Amino acid sequence: MDENEIRITVEAHPNIALIKYWGKKSETEMTPLNDSISLAIDIFHAKTTLTARRVEEGEESVDTVSINGREITLNTRFNRVFKSVRDRLDSSWSFSISSSTNFPVAAGLASSAAGFAAIAFALGKAFDLSQTDIERLARYGSGSASRSGLPGLVQWKKGDEKEESSVLSHFPSSHWPDLRLVILVVKDEEKSISSKEGMERTARTSELLQDRIRRNPARIQGIIDSFASRDFSTLAELTMRDSNEFHAVCLDSYPPIQYLNTTSWSIINLVHSFNKESVRAAYTFDAGPNACIFTLKEYMDEFVSLVHSSFSIGDSIEKELRSVHISTLGDGPKVVE
Ligand code: PMV
Repeated sequence: MDENEIRITVEAHPNIALIKYWGKKSETEMTPLNDSISLAIDIFHAKTTLTARRVEEGEESVDTVSINGREITLNTRFNRVFKSVRDRLDSSWSFSISSSTNFPVAAGLASSAAGFAAIAFALGKAFDLSQTDIERLARYGSGSASRSGLPGLVQWKKGDEKEESSVLSHFPSSHWPDLRLVILVVKDEEKSISSKEGMERTARTSELLQDRIRRNPARIQGIIDSFASRDFSTLAELTMRDSNEFHAVCLDSYPPIQYLNTTSWSIINLVHSFNKESVRAAYTFDAGPNACIFTLKEYMDEFVSLVHSSFSIGDSIEKELRSVHISTLGDGPKVVE
């Protein structure tokens, strides 16, 4: 083996938060104002090859990143991740990342979470870093990426003066084999406000945000307890309430931030009408119009047929939904080569 070159290929899943992260306590440490909790989406992944090369003395390290075959200009997030690894190593290395996703990057499906979780995990494996270091690297890339580093139901704790922000897995994905995720990719014409910009605006201008932060510990505990006892209706209600509250806080920002469009609202109404007799599905929306629906195996076919009969689905411009994807729960990242 060439000790001046390390190559490793890993895969990581994107995750969807049931209780969402919105607002930073520290921009430099990338720590959040509130705890969040999520599940990984098994059918989607980012597959990432890291090639690390030792740099000769006097030579400058040059890092490169390509995503789905296109080389990208490195922004501060990437530079920060690479610098932070180099600071821990006794010799200089340059990093080359080649990443591909099996889902559309531009569709707003938390591709940065999967991407940075994969990069952090690959660097961790290549250089034998601690779990804490891997979590920190992922978070430097994208806050929510730290949650893609572990399996099943994952909580990202905000931390405090005594304890650093960290992630922990409460249950493996196998704890609830009947839980299903239906991802509805919604037609999106607007360029949405980035999560970074949105969080800054909300933290600066929303008065509702403090209320949301106060409610957060009870909501997180509610998700953990309902997941533990596989109590779908409680889990579903908490998830929908948190999504609604997150988008309300966005609207309460000034100027307001609108991530949901009319199709997103039709999905919300469809789920509530599907739940008329009993709660059988739950929606949640990140910083964009796409929906992630949680349901159980026994209700899935009925829900998906309802979606097909209620929306026009396909690539052409007038269709309301671009695509529909069905998944089980995912686990943490893994080495594939
Ligand atoms: O990780 P970021 O900076 O892209 O922020 C993610 C924010 C939400 O997706 C809206 C919520 C979450 O917890 O994933």
